[in-house]
Amino acid sequence: MFDLTGKKAIITGGGSGIGRAISLLFGKQGAEVHILELNESAASAVRDEIKEAGGKAFSHAVNVSDQSEMLAVVQGIGAVDILVNNAGIAHVGNLENCKVEDFERVYSVNVKGAYNALFSVIPLMKERKKGAILNLASIASQVGITDRFAYSMSKGAIAAMTLSVARDYIDYGIRCNSISPARVHTPFVDGFIAKNYPGKEEEMFAKLAASQPIGRMAKPEEIASLALYLCSDEADFITGNDYPIDGGFIKLNN
Ligand SMILES: NC(=O)c1ccc[n+]([C@@H]2O[C@H](COP(=O)([O-])OP(=O)(O)OC[C@H]3O[C@@H](n4cnc5c(N)ncnc54)[C@H](O)[C@@H]3O)[C@@H](O)[C@H]2O)c1
Repeated sequence: MFDLTGKKAIITGGGSGIGRAISLLFGKQGAEVHILELNESAASAVRDEIKEAGGKAFSHAVNVSDQSEMLAVVQGIGAVDILVNNAGIAHVGNLENCKVEDFERVYSVNVKGAYNALFSVIPLMKERKKGAILNLASIASQVGITDRFAYSMSKGAIAAMTLSVARDYIDYGIRCNSISPARVHTPFVDGFIAKNYPGKEEEMFAKLAASQPIGRMAKPEEIASLALYLCSDEADFITGNDYPIDGGFIKLNN
């Protein structure tokens, strides 16, 4: 079960955190992994880890916000079976603290980046009448989270794009789903705590961990396991859905 042998998988932002864990697991399960990353050295380190473990992997320096870069790289890869739209950035602040530059930066990576990847990959999947797409949404696409205006906007767009793509390409054998993690302990979380709560890092970490009723943050490997299921042939009957992986955040926080 969950064998990806013979499949080509593109993982955006695969150099760190959740994307890294997904890249390593997909590589272990036999996929030819293509990491599309802004951070070239992080991407090549993950590529090397996969290869050292006996897998197949390639890293590509790409800014997901740039459509021509994305199109060129994806066309070079060709015959893509799996796309994981994972690259994303954070912003902490409510509407009044969100400057237009912040809004545009988050939009450009989290929304336009996912659109660019979908735009590049869909024609290739359509031609072969098969494909599995997984988009990284967030609990912020489903519930109101304090001080996450721009970020929530971007993850709401991910949820809507997932439905639109799932609907339009269902007859081409293309499945499209999203997952909505609560807090996952990655450099993304450490980075925004350090940036936004200097001097209060430990307190904020504990507060964010406790906001999951299960009492901790998720591990990137736990997110990767769900991603593997949803991208595998075992999930062939699943499309147009979002899967929270949230330690009870959405339904048990009462
Ligand atoms: N960590 C969490 O708590 C959490 C929760 C819910 C959803 N998510 C989502 O999961 C995804 C991954 O998060 P993470 O915590 O692993 O983050 P991370 O910061 O550890 O990794 C993100 C990766 O994306 C890359 N990236 C950023 N901008 C890029 C660009 N323009 N082009 C190409 N690559 C780019 C970074 O270089 C980095 O390697 C994001 O979409 C995030 O919104 C994270």
